[in-house]
Amino acid sequence: MQATILVTGGTGFIGSHTAAVLQQAGYRVLILDNLCNSAAGVLDAIAAITGIRPDFVQGDVRDAPLLDSVFASHPIAAVLHFAGLKAVGESTTMPLAYYDNNVHGSVQLLQAMQRAGVRTLVFSSSATVYGDPQKLPLTEDHPRSATNPYGHTKLVVEDILENLYNSQPDWRIARLRYFNPVGAHPSGLMGEAPQGTPNNLMPFVAQVAVGQRDSVKVFGNDYDTPDGTGVRDYIHVMDLAEGHAHALKYCLNAAQDLLTVNLGTGVGYSVLDMIHAFEQASGKAVAYDIVGRRPGDIAACWADTELAFQKLGWRAQKSIQDMCDDAWRWEMHRAAL
Ligand code: NAD
Ligand code: UD1
Repeated sequence: MQATILVTGGTGFIGSHTAAVLQQAGYRVLILDNLCNSAAGVLDAIAAITGIRPDFVQGDVRDAPLLDSVFASHPIAAVLHFAGLKAVGESTTMPLAYYDNNVHGSVQLLQAMQRAGVRTLVFSSSATVYGDPQKLPLTEDHPRSATNPYGHTKLVVEDILENLYNSQPDWRIARLRYFNPVGAHPSGLMGEAPQGTPNNLMPFVAQVAVGQRDSVKVFGNDYDTPDGTGVRDYIHVMDLAEGHAHALKYCLNAAQDLLTVNLGTGVGYSVLDMIHAFEQASGKAVAYDIVGRRPGDIAACWADTELAFQKLGWRAQKSIQDMCDDAWRWEMHRAAL
């Protein structure tokens, strides 16, 4: 039987693009997702893009008997663990749900991997673990901190993985710290589909361009940045997916390792830069209002990308214009559905 990669959260935004890239690289993919923030229709999109429908189990990473049966019935070589909750604001009002899903869910998965003898894992961490940057670009040895429960769940799981590796060094683990994933598959068939009002900038901008919302609220123009608006390291989701393929290959080829790397572009763009790039891509005016700062926001953040290049031989390739062009194609496709 062909070795299989288990992708938890694989019908979600980043997991689905990664699943497509892995299939195109020749891996067999099995997705486990409880569909709490995605839809099974994503499997059709992956099939249309790659010509292969990934195997799918609808279920929860906290369900230990289900995990045991998944590991028992497939020759799983490695796990990419995307499943989790990710809304910062919601995590402050429902902290227990975040610890249960993100921390308890990860522990259940790790225990099932132990039982099955699968010790190769790629974990979705976040640049949120750097807190308020003391210096830029952010290198992986920057001190970590968390200002909200979501961020804290990522810190805790990073630490659990380190404890696990120290106790059993035959594990091969990559902790990937994503910066700001945006964009969509270039086919226009797959992208981000946030439920309700988007919390993040780019899905909101897309919904204004398509006429679904009136204007973008720009959270502050008095930061110490070139135009006063917040600066972030936006990374195309396809670059991120390629980064995962490199990290998986690295882990599969390592005798043992605990690798921690940033996945970003190394370049920061402001809120207004992103709005203007989206106007260019869509040919639509994107109205915006400057409002007060969002509590908890930092002024600027971008990655040092050298370690990822050194260890994985990977660098992001796509421009903000690619990110906006592809997000717009996806938005048009969604509007036509
Ligand atoms: P997403 O919500 O689109 O995808 C997560 C998927 O996990 C969803 O399909 C959801 O249904 C599934 N899921 C959630 N809880 C589950 C559970 N208990 N069992 C099984 N499936 C479950 O989010 P995304 O943007 O694709 O993010 C993927 C991962 O990357 C998350 O761990 C997130 O914290 C992390 N991350 C995301 C970003 C970002 O900006 N999108 C940035 C940094 C890190
Ligand atoms: C947010 C989370 C971060 C998480 C990341 C994942 C917060 C405080 N941080 O990061 O922990 O890892 O999402 O995607 O929620 N902006 C506007 N108007 C909007 C939305 C955003 O001006 O309607 C601005 C923000 O102030 C920021 C930039 O756009 O300067 C990007 O915001 P966003 O997309 O929410 O990402 P982050 O805040 O970087």
